[in-house]
Amino acid sequence: MAKTNSEGRDKSLPYSDIIRERVEKMQIKILGIETSCDETAAAVVNCDGVVLSNVIYSQIDIHKIYGGVVPEIAARNHIAKIDHVVATALSDAGVALSHIDAIAVTYGPGLVGALLTGLNFAKALAYSANLPLIAVNHLEGHIASAYLENVDFRPPFVALIASGGHSHLVHVKDYGKYEVLGKTADDAAGEAFDKVARTLGLPYPGGVEIDRLAKLGNPHAIPFPRPKADAGLDFSFSGLKSAVLNYLNAAKMKGEDINPADVAASFQEAVVDILTQKAIKSCQATNSTRLAVVGGVACNSQLKASLQQACQREGVHLHIPKPIFCTDNAAMIAMAAHVYHRQGKFAALSLNAVPSLEL
Ligand code: KG4
Ligand code: ZN
Repeated sequence: MAKTNSEGRDKSLPYSDIIRERVEKMQIKILGIETSCDETAAAVVNCDGVVLSNVIYSQIDIHKIYGGVVPEIAARNHIAKIDHVVATALSDAGVALSHIDAIAVTYGPGLVGALLTGLNFAKALAYSANLPLIAVNHLEGHIASAYLENVDFRPPFVALIASGGHSHLVHVKDYGKYEVLGKTADDAAGEAFDKVARTLGLPYPGGVEIDRLAKLGNPHAIPFPRPKADAGLDFSFSGLKSAVLNYLNAAKMKGEDINPADVAASFQEAVVDILTQKAIKSCQATNSTRLAVVGGVACNSQLKASLQQACQREGVHLHIPKPIFCTDNAAMIAMAAHVYHRQGKFAALSLNAVPSLEL
């Protein structure tokens, strides 16, 4: 008879083999924790990408009055909410901590105080429950959102990550194998949406407000600049943002009225053109027939329409996760961690936050 320890594990097998065996026999469940910015989130996801719970406490209303996320306030609110959010994620999933196989946590990139809250909570929970800890890169989490409740979507593919903090084009060659094809040299796409929205007097976060207002405007009213078609796969949104600000300032100086809906629609059209053009270019450069668009900006209605049209023309299969999986959430963190769990790649309890972590 095989030797087992108090947890019933066969000690004659290396730990990775034990995990593989368990994966084959049962549904591994990972608890994910995400606190890199202004969402306190926890979720339970099984190895087939089934989301058993997905709890998100958004601090948007708290930060709205400041026109953006205040790091210190974000960290304090994570501390106040994390315990309840994690307990709710477990109860919504109908599981106890003893049914969980690993705890996954975002360790970067993000706001250091915010990251440390989730990280310390995850480490304490892993230690007390004797569970493995898995370190997840937030960007990798966004990429893994493409697998949630979508078991057929798998590498290789191109991922466009467009969020408040990041604009990346990534060739996902295999699970956990990434080649960054391009990224932003300055503002992220979502950041540009938020800044332009603020100058139009719209509340934070501005992306959804611009999306709404743009439906009432003419996207061809103002010819905001686009980068040259022969430019590489990197992004730059600061020139476009400055062009919008200059347009608004010039109109103000001349005492001319502006049409906010036309400004929103023309700005959005420029961002959508840039994102669509570079995403398609990336598919062509890597011979990819699949494109996943993730991150908060993937919720943009005009971007979806433009990508659908371009992908159909190019014969590329487009996948945009449900909006709740596009904006920051912990289900994507748990999903990304399943790959590491399968490989037996666990983090030490000395794991620290890395605010400027790269993919
Ligand atoms: O992925 P996310 O929740 O957080 C980060 O990792 O940054 O993305 C938030 C960003 C914000 O900048 C927000 O304005 C933008 O996503 N966003 C949108 C839309 N919904 C959210 N941008 C354009 N159109 C939308 N419908
Ligand atoms: Zn994010």
